[in-house]
Amino acid sequence: MTENLIQKFENTTLNEQDWKAQLQANNIDKRPKTEDVTKTRGTEFEDYYLKRELLMGIFEAGFERPSPIQEESIPIALSGRDILARAKNGTGKTAAFVIPSLEKADTKKNKIQTLILVPTRELALQTSQVCKNLGKHMNAKVMVTTGGTTLRDDILRLNDPVHIVVGTPGRVLDLAGKGVANFSECMTFVMDEADKLLSPEFTPIIEQLLSYFPKNRQISLYSATFPLIVKAFMDKHLNKPYEINLMDELTLRGITQYYAFVDESQKVHCLNTLFSKLQINQSIIFCNSTNRVELLAKKITELGYSCFYSHAKMLQSHRNRVFHNFRNGVCRNLVCSDLLTRGIDIQAVNVVVNFDFPKNAETYLHRIGRSGRFGHRGLAISFISWADRFNLYRIENELGTEIQPIPSSIDPSLYVFPNGNYQVPRPLTGTAEQTLAAHQARGQEFNNNRNNYRDNYRNHSGRGNGGGYRGGYGARRNPRYGGPNPKSLS
Ligand SMILES: Nc1ncnc2c1ncn2[C@@H]1O[C@H](COP(=O)(O)OP(=O)(O)OP(=O)(O)O)[C@@H](O)[C@H]1O
Ligand SMILES: [Mg+2]
Repeated sequence: MTENLIQKFENTTLNEQDWKAQLQANNIDKRPKTEDVTKTRGTEFEDYYLKRELLMGIFEAGFERPSPIQEESIPIALSGRDILARAKNGTGKTAAFVIPSLEKADTKKNKIQTLILVPTRELALQTSQVCKNLGKHMNAKVMVTTGGTTLRDDILRLNDPVHIVVGTPGRVLDLAGKGVANFSECMTFVMDEADKLLSPEFTPIIEQLLSYFPKNRQISLYSATFPLIVKAFMDKHLNKPYEINLMDELTLRGITQYYAFVDESQKVHCLNTLFSKLQINQSIIFCNSTNRVELLAKKITELGYSCFYSHAKMLQSHRNRVFHNFRNGVCRNLVCSDLLTRGIDIQAVNVVVNFDFPKNAETYLHRIGRSGRFGHRGLAISFISWADRFNLYRIENELGTEIQPIPSSIDPSLYVFPNGNYQVPRPLTGTAEQTLAAHQARGQEFNNNRNNYRDNYRNHSGRGNGGGYRGGYGARRNPRYGGPNPKSLS
């Protein structure tokens, strides 16, 4: 009898270990990481008593142990208390709120239980994908809803069970106001990039949206930046929030920042020099206006380098395609406006260029945080014109950091991924047609047809950076929006 029991116990213990051993954690990233993500108290995901199915999703995503923000936030989020969490870019805030949301989801109940609000459509797509990945062994139904898509599809989708909604404020309010999305039993209200969502353009929408939620709902705010504007909202709507602040210093340890002092007329030339000298895996190049995004993309293509572009005035279908293809390494460089400044997570980006210097410290921080994800290394180079010098000084002061002038040569070890057993996706080589064919062959979601592709992308031959790559330089201009001003870029 006793022996039987011992045998049973041993079998159970073995099974307990087995389930983890059998997982296919194929994404484990062995590259060295900075203390921004490694300085933890040493807890493990198993310590939070999460559902087995959720743990399986976490480990299969390649997450070995919680990052500091996850360690701080997951237990509190599970307790239901309001949260204000501040942590550096790329340190895992998304999973810090997605994991507790999935854990709390009662999949037997046909009700929306969590709303995750984000400021942009691209970020909504990315975040819903994280929910789906981490929850892939659970039965939780995740729905993404944003502007720029047909409302009808969302209405149809909501006829089926939905447990977690990820969306942008305008569309979510629309669905709530029409009585299509029912938030009356939705106890978790998460705002990612909360300071952006609480800027004057969004706050009235958020306030209206909250009126559809139960009075005792939990509100959690996450961001790397919390300027004072969030205080009024917090005082009004949050109940003794648990505050997490992991930003004893503001900038990421893995990112090396430089500035190049250039005249406006030298910027394109300077970028050309960077392209020829740097080892760019993928880069994001920020401009301050949609006009300048398009003009610069055109210049870069004329120089013979491949690039896509994206900004808020483009058709949503084009924006999605650019985002999807850039993520998949179809193109090496992406020129964009501040549309993609927040939250966008593309591990292969190792260089960020501020072609135009941003106006404030928050924007600067979020932009440069597109590289150096999850404690890795990256390079941020800002072009500073004569007029930007006051901004540079102010931003340096606000961030408590000194941005150095760019040296004549940059040590690759500062930003180039070491050759390990982890392969960062690299842009594919070949013509745009070959690239398309390769993607289709790999069975990836590529829902545009060839005609659309030809119509929306102009093909330019180019020597590429690192050999033989040809690509289009972005989507066609929205005809409602005027052409670029030829004087604005030289
Ligand atoms: N525990 C973990 N172990 C390994 N990788 C992780 C872990 N948590 C998150 N990551 C990875 O880290 C990257 C950055 O995560 P995430 O996008 O959530 O950062 P963030 O803090 O939201 O950044 P941002 O402020 O820029 O929005 C993602 O690629 C994610 O898969
Ligand atoms: Mg984020």
